[in-house]
Amino acid sequence: MARVAIVTGGTRGIGEAISLALTDLGITVAANYGGSDENARAFTERTGIKSYKWNVADHQACLDGVAQVEAELGPVDIVVNNAGITRDGTLMKMSYEAWDEVIRVNLGGCFNMAKATFTGMKSRGFGRIVNIGSINGQAGQYGQVNYAAAKSGIHGFTKALAQEGARFGITVNAIAPGYIDTDMVAAVPPEVLEKIVAKIPAGRLGQASEIARGVAFLVGENSGFVTGSTLSINGGQHMY
Ligand code: CAA
Repeated sequence: MARVAIVTGGTRGIGEAISLALTDLGITVAANYGGSDENARAFTERTGIKSYKWNVADHQACLDGVAQVEAELGPVDIVVNNAGITRDGTLMKMSYEAWDEVIRVNLGGCFNMAKATFTGMKSRGFGRIVNIGSINGQAGQYGQVNYAAAKSGIHGFTKALAQEGARFGITVNAIAPGYIDTDMVAAVPPEVLEKIVAKIPAGRLGQASEIARGVAFLVGENSGFVTGSTLSINGGQHMY
């Protein structure tokens, strides 16, 4: 039977590319989303991939969402924690809400989804968890104390959970994307983005499909010895 994967934030941007790449591998994908129903409907019509709405920052919603996916599609063996938001601003201008929301979605979402799926993976002796971190969690970024802290937290979370999962056949890895051509990066002021791109040795933004390719490798049946690692995909912008 085909493996079942949940991709959070799986109907747009990097998440959409991941949902498509895993489907191409013969995996049954449930694409979670938290925002626009209209976009999710269009995604499902376009791709045939089912979409499921819940907020990854809400612990109970994750438990309920995973239960629904398992009832409809089967046990979840693969989780890609991709859902993420930005609320950029310098510390002096950043509200507590902007801090809290980013930590709860970007980092809390990883905890919530792992809690909802880890026990089942353990009982079946197989699991793949891939957490989408960021170059800005590795290197920091002006105007992103919330986002950089959450993404840096994801890298620590990954290494800790990898140690807990290894003997049960559960691998836990992270990908640290650089600047990828998505709506999120398009929201950076053009004059700021121009300076950032000038520092990317590859001389361009990355493509979402280039991140999805890394996820496809990490979730592979024969990638079981790769755990606790961080795969940087950033055009050479930060070597870590
Ligand atoms: N280092 C040092 N100083 C900097 C700086 C930097 N990197 N960037 C800006 N400054 C300086 C500016 O030159 C300016 O100085 P002066 O007042 O002396 O002119 C001062 O800091 C204020 O800068 P801004 O005018 O830009 O401040 P602002 O409050 O209007 O905007 C900001 C701040 C919202 C953070 C804006 O700079 C910004 O959007 N930066 C981009 C942040 C970014 O890269 N986000 C990534 C989003 S994509 C993503 O996160 C995906 C991923 O994983 C990679």
